[in-house]
Amino acid sequence: MDTHEEWGPDAGGPATAVVTGASSGIGHEYAGRLAAAGWDVVLVARRAERLASLARRLREEHGVRAEECVADLADAGDLARVAARVAGEDVALLVNNAGINGYGLFTDVDPALLTKVVALNVTAPTVLTRAALPGMQARGRGAVVNVASLLAFSGDLPPDPLPQRAVYAATKGYAVTFTRVLAAELGDGPVRLQVLCPGLTATEFHLTTGREPVSGAAPQVHRDGGMPAPDVVTASLTALRTGETVCVPGLEEARALERLAEAEAGVRSGAGAPLASRYRPAADALR
Ligand SMILES: NC(=O)c1ccc[n+]([C@@H]2O[C@H](COP(=O)([O-])OP(=O)(O)OC[C@H]3O[C@@H](n4cnc5c(N)ncnc54)[C@H](OP(=O)(O)O)[C@@H]3O)[C@@H](O)[C@H]2O)c1
Repeated sequence: MDTHEEWGPDAGGPATAVVTGASSGIGHEYAGRLAAAGWDVVLVARRAERLASLARRLREEHGVRAEECVADLADAGDLARVAARVAGEDVALLVNNAGINGYGLFTDVDPALLTKVVALNVTAPTVLTRAALPGMQARGRGAVVNVASLLAFSGDLPPDPLPQRAVYAATKGYAVTFTRVLAAELGDGPVRLQVLCPGLTATEFHLTTGREPVSGAAPQVHRDGGMPAPDVVTASLTALRTGETVCVPGLEEARALERLAEAEAGVRSGAGAPLASRYRPAADALR
């Protein structure tokens, strides 16, 4: 099934994509690929110079409109400004990609950084999705991609060799649950939702915990390796066409997602049930 024309530039009408975190890594790649496919793009991030040079290149190479939107999405005022742009009637695709990690031992990390991780990874995509959806629904087409991480599913793993990541992983768990539940709420409506769950990806991500941007005029790559960002974006754009809500670029056995849903149903069997037998002796002792 190829439904790109239902909401993309081929469909006529509004065809602007807003990409947050477009100054490097996965977002930079989305911006380039979407522009190459004929989308006008709104590029959101803090590093103005990088956005300006990307926008210039996309205009020259693809003849599209490329707008720079310099904003710190962890700042409430900037977020409101971006939300107003996202609500514009030309916007047919929102990619909530900007994210920071705030890695570190929970009790060592500055609380202000932890707050920032939540603001950027949780509050910003929620506010921007809320801004985008009504117009997309009214116009009868649109899509929202929320970039999560496979670390959303890392709750049963020890910290090593993975990073110390309680807050980061929790924010990505939010992205997964938010997107899946909202997708169910929207049902077969005209707006498509996707949560993208990459594994380690070759970007700037590990060069900063996110408090300050990485310096330098051109996007860089951390030394930890990972899947090339173009492959991650290829998976996401393919999944948008085929209608996958949860896209895991490196997952060969897609059936694992069905098993996850089955396991969730098993846990939910505790809803509306009487107190489980392992807790009953303690409850009986109170009677
Ligand atoms: N790389 C990985 O291994 C990996 C794996 C799974 C998921 N992810 C997720 O993929 C997404 C993209 O990350 P990436 O790997 O491409 O990392 P990246 O190269 O570090 O890019 C992060 C982007 O987010 C933007 N950003 C950071 N703080 C911001 C703020 N306060 N306001 C606005 N924009 C901000 C950055 O731009 P400025 O600094 O210019 O603001 C940059 O464009 C993130 O959500 C990340 O959690 C990454």
